Amino acid sequence: MALRNIVKLGDDVLRKKCRAVTMIDSKTHQLLDDMAQTMHAANGVGLAAPQVGLLKRIVVIDVGEGVIELINPEILSFSGEQTDDEGCLSVPDKFLPVTRPNVVKVRALDRYGKSFTMEGEGLLARAFCHEIDHLDGKMFLDVYKEQQKNK
Ligand code: NI
Repeated sequence: MALRNIVKLGDDVLRKKCRAVTMIDSKTHQLLDDMAQTMHAANGVGLAAPQVGLLKRIVVIDVGEGVIELINPEILSFSGEQTDDEGCLSVPDKFLPVTRPNVVKVRALDRYGKSFTMEGEGLLARAFCHEIDHLDGKMFLDVYKEQQKNK
């Protein structure tokens, strides 16, 4: 495993749409391992591939219950609402209140290419939304701004 460099706000790679993963191989496993290690070293709860400079639809999350790996994740359904301070490893030391669904159900592939669904509540639901947004070039700052504008 190796630590990867975390891309910071201002880098174009954070603003691009990521491509679906079509082949899962040993390089993918290496990337997943590196991303988890990088996330833990930075004390984050989630990390998306563009944050390590790769336009791939890959996310890792750990809200304290072990690492969750998501390849080509999609949100299937969501419900409820929660508002809490949110941050991002690509935007150091910035925390802003963002409203997110309280329960989010996702579907993704695991590292063996098997499809699975998972439901998250609270912080995990927030992490699903935040990280999947990254795959479409969207930052939590954008969500914050939209929500402030619509207040
Ligand atoms: Ni982030």
